[in-house]
Amino acid sequence: MIPTPHINVSKQGIIAETVLMPGDPLRAKFIAETYLENPVQFNSVRNMFGYTGTYKGKKISVMGSGMGMPSMGIYSYELLNFYGVKNIIRIGSCGAIQEDVKIRDIIIGMSASTTSNYASQFNLPGTYAPTASWPLMKKALDVAENKGISVRAGNILSADIFYDDEPEVWKRWARMGVLAIEMEAAALYMNAARAGANAVCILTVSDSLVSREATTAEERQTSFTNMMEIALELA
Ligand code: HPA
Repeated sequence: MIPTPHINVSKQGIIAETVLMPGDPLRAKFIAETYLENPVQFNSVRNMFGYTGTYKGKKISVMGSGMGMPSMGIYSYELLNFYGVKNIIRIGSCGAIQEDVKIRDIIIGMSASTTSNYASQFNLPGTYAPTASWPLMKKALDVAENKGISVRAGNILSADIFYDDEPEVWKRWARMGVLAIEMEAAALYMNAARAGANAVCILTVSDSLVSREATTAEERQTSFTNMMEIALELA
C-alpha cells in the first residue's frame, strides 16, 4: 500500500485498531510519552503527530485530529478506510451551554447535532443523527462508574464556527437540551458509521458560555487525567 496524503504510513499493522484522537497533536505526543509503553511515532506530516505503543499490554495509537470537521474528517477517514482502524475515541474539550453543566465536568457525546453540511455527501432523504457507537459508549459509562468519575451523556453540538457573528446563537441549541459545543464529533461519528466502525467522544468542559467561566491550566490537567483514564480503559 502507498501512504495516504496525510498519514505517512505504508504498511498495515503500524497503526493500532483503536486510536485516541485529541485535537492537539502536541497533546497526542504528551499522551504517548506519559501513558503508553514503548511509543513509536508513525506520523509527522503537517506536524499531525501520531504514535503507537501499548497500554496494559494492549496495542493502542494516539494521533491528533486538528480542529474542526474538515480536519477530523480527513484524518478519521484515512485511519478508518486505509489503515484498518476499528475504534476511534475522540478526547477533547467543549464549552458548556447548560446552567447545570459545570467547568471540569466530563461529557460523553451520545449524539452530535451539527451546523456543518458534512452529511450532505451521503444524499440521504432526510436529516441524519450522528450517534456514538453504543458498545464504546456503554463501556465508557461503565468505566467511569467503576472509577467513581461522574459523567454526563447527551447531545452535543459540533459547530463549524467558533467566533459566531451572532454570539448568542448557542441559546437556541440550549433550548433543545444540547449540553455543550465542540467542533469535531459529528464528522467522526458519520465517518465511523459509513465505515462500519466505532466511535465515541469524551469531552471535558473547558469553559461555560452560560457562566463565562473558564478552567485554569491546573484544573484542565485534573479533568484531563480523569478523561484519559476513561479513554485508555476503553481501548
Ligand atoms: N465552542 C466550540 N468549541 C469549543 C468551545 C466552544 O465554546 N470550548 C471548547 N471547545
